Amino acid sequence: MVYETIPRTVRILLLGEPGVGKTSLILSLVTEEFAEHVPPKAEEITIPADVTPEQVPTNIVDINASEQSLEQVGEEIEKAHVICIVFSVDRQETLNKIASYWLPFVRDNCHSDFRKPIILVGNKIDLIDYSVIDNIWDIAEEYPEVDRCIECSAKTLMNVSEMFYNAQKAVLHPIHPIYSIEEQELTEKCKRALSRIFKICDLDGDGLMDDYEITIFQRKCFDTPLQLQVLDEVKSVIAQNIAGGIENECITMKGFVFLHCLFIQRGRNETTWTVLRKFGYDESLDLTHTYLYANIKIPVGCTTELSYKGQQFLTQIFEKYDRDKDGMLNPTELKNVFACCPRIPWHNLRYTVPTNEKGYLTLQGWMCRWTLMTLLDLQNTSAYLAYLGYNFLESESQKSAIHITREKKVDIAKKQSSRNVYQCHVIGPRSCGKTSICRSFLGIAHKKIKPQTQERGDGNVTENCCINTILVYGQEKYLVLKEIPITRVSDPLQPHEVNCDVACLVYDMSASRSFEYIARIYIKYFAESHIPVLIVGTRGDALIARQEYILQPEVFCAKYQLLPPQVFLIKENKQDVFVKLATMAAFPQFQAAWMLFSKHRHLKHFASLAGENSSWWKAGIGVAAATIMGLVLIKIFNFQRR
Ligand code: GTP
Ligand code: MG
Repeated sequence: MVYETIPRTVRILLLGEPGVGKTSLILSLVTEEFAEHVPPKAEEITIPADVTPEQVPTNIVDINASEQSLEQVGEEIEKAHVICIVFSVDRQETLNKIASYWLPFVRDNCHSDFRKPIILVGNKIDLIDYSVIDNIWDIAEEYPEVDRCIECSAKTLMNVSEMFYNAQKAVLHPIHPIYSIEEQELTEKCKRALSRIFKICDLDGDGLMDDYEITIFQRKCFDTPLQLQVLDEVKSVIAQNIAGGIENECITMKGFVFLHCLFIQRGRNETTWTVLRKFGYDESLDLTHTYLYANIKIPVGCTTELSYKGQQFLTQIFEKYDRDKDGMLNPTELKNVFACCPRIPWHNLRYTVPTNEKGYLTLQGWMCRWTLMTLLDLQNTSAYLAYLGYNFLESESQKSAIHITREKKVDIAKKQSSRNVYQCHVIGPRSCGKTSICRSFLGIAHKKIKPQTQERGDGNVTENCCINTILVYGQEKYLVLKEIPITRVSDPLQPHEVNCDVACLVYDMSASRSFEYIARIYIKYFAESHIPVLIVGTRGDALIARQEYILQPEVFCAKYQLLPPQVFLIKENKQDVFVKLATMAAFPQFQAAWMLFSKHRHLKHFASLAGENSSWWKAGIGVAAATIMGLVLIKIFNFQRR
């Protein structure tokens, strides 16, 4: 996978004192032989991608002090990706000039927040029979942008191509983000990234990478199978060098981190970088935007749900982190799931999804929470799937974890919805029992609930939402309840507060002014809409008040051809209201069919029929059956006419 942060070409600039052999190095690389006489300055050379080890087109640029002004050299520094400062190993003054002149000069011509990698090149090694590398480390320590030092000879061609290869690598696989030369250790950010990678690849979550897991890791990162013999060698190197690096013949997190440290110390940065990039990291070891946020376009009228693949992946994650196998994620286990993410994406789980009595997430609750996030906050869903390793483990983008539903108007036209997740807005005046209804949906026993003080603001899209599953004609559907309080009778609703799959308008049967709120809301926002509406009265077990409104609720419902008010008794904790809401959302035409059917019925009959659940449903099915019969009859009729 190619990420935007990798440059598409590498521009190498050679600097240094006159006569150190810059031009000779370039010409020796290109012609593969040493020329005694070289021009003062080599023409800029472009090496095509396919002949470079890293498969990147590479430009090599020479400078010459007598042909170029300092200003022009400064411009070349600005354009370069990597700078090779050459000195001649037989002339100490050319080495001294590196620290006293060239390194500060390069810094002056680079932006302060980004330092270009530098390679120190000791040329003419054929002239001496000792190494000067040790004299260079002091300089390298003072200038962390120095990526490495290399000795070579343009004359014997020794290390010439290596020098250019290393320059290329310094750009494509820079050392500084991943390794601290001063401390001779991986950087903290690199360790964190590797620990996330280890956790993703530790498929069974036992804290060890066994042979199978290493094989998968190797194949996905490097596209090549791992020889068993090589694996054994790797393990024995780890075992010999780091205590606790191998346990039960498996690689531990410590061993894994050590292995990468070793790669880098041996100049194999590219191995670690290949791994890091595969897991979405950019040059500063942050996850790239494209890795986190899959480009998913949602057409108007469509919603987002988890695909089968997404559900499968998340089920595996749940099982992996449920270490005690009790079917729940306790707070520690939940923290572990998101240990490699910026934070736990959710709070207030107890009142959002079904949990056990301690508030621990069940698998059902876990899937509910993801479903809610997928519906309301797709960006975050995409990011958290990426953090958890979806792209790596499934070898594709998070797109495949998401299912985009068909447009709602198609559902309405086809009189059937293919969705699995429905949004219900629970609308009603303050303290009418909205929260109790939502809690009851999650199976939370009735308690006195403190009235909410905050206004209905929208800090978080999932605020005031809860979600659970419910059966609709034997099929499991998700129903999201979102509370929308009405403070004043004349409170306006915003379009996003109206738009939903089904609305549940709630009033308090024991408060005489309660119904007026929702009656007005109904007339203003829902009477003309396609959104099915269910009117629910709470506190039916208290002293029932006569509503101070022009129409009593039953009459109001009849007039607007709504189902009669449903009495919701919190203590009974019955699910039938939720089944009705979900069914109305799934079959939006149901209410319409019902209206048609009831037009010819007497009001009294309407109320009694609808009041008794079973016959209401039977009546509904009856309508559907009648419609099908109608179709069959027409077909037969047509057939006979032919
Ligand atoms: P300017 O363009 O003047 O900055 O010099 P330069 O750095 O381009 O050096 P150039 O390549 O012109 O080489 C200077 C002299 O060093 C030439 O006589 C080369 O033949 C010689 N030379 C270059 N590389 C080597 C080498 O590796 N070994 C030996 N023995 N001589 C070399
Ligand atoms: Mg030259």
